[in-house]
Amino acid sequence: MPLKKLGELEVPSDQDYLAEVDNFTEKLIKKTLLPSSDVDDVAIVISEAVNNAMVHGNNLDVTKSVKIRLYSCSKYIRIVIQDEGGGFSPEDVPDPREDENLLKASGRGLLIIRHLMDEVSYKSVKSGTQIIMDKYV
Ligand SMILES: Nc1ncnc2c1ncn2[C@@H]1O[C@H](COP(=O)(O)OP(=O)(O)OP(=O)(O)O)[C@@H](O)[C@H]1O
Ligand SMILES: [Mg+2]
Repeated sequence: MPLKKLGELEVPSDQDYLAEVDNFTEKLIKKTLLPSSDVDDVAIVISEAVNNAMVHGNNLDVTKSVKIRLYSCSKYIRIVIQDEGGGFSPEDVPDPREDENLLKASGRGLLIIRHLMDEVSYKSVKSGTQIIMDKYV
């Protein structure tokens, strides 16, 4: 079974749209082969990544949008979140598990994403930056 596109949603960089994103993605994920025990994990991951795309990628500029695409094949589901920003260096992001960061209230999104997904990568595209996340089924 080749990688097949299940759907795509584009929203402005306004956190009020996170509920709509959640609705859209949860419906689609339930149609995949992903075990139901993983559906909530993937919903958390999408919410963290879309939030990062809105806040850090697009600086909450409502004229800039975030695209969410879902794909699936027999081995994994793939989620691609695209913003209109210049990207960043994931290796320069402070590790929230270091002593000096433990009490900080933010900086945990990427750690959660990496723990809940099986493959995570970043790609610079013409109009912005993508985070590409796979979860094995
Ligand atoms: N799409 C993105 N574009 C640009 N920078 C990003 C993007 N996603 C993450 N980053 C950078 O990586 C850092 C870590 O992201 P992470 O989600 O772990 O923490 P946070 O967003 O700062 O806080 P939290 O998610 O816990 O509220 C961000 O502070 C930001 O500098
Ligand atoms: Mg974040």
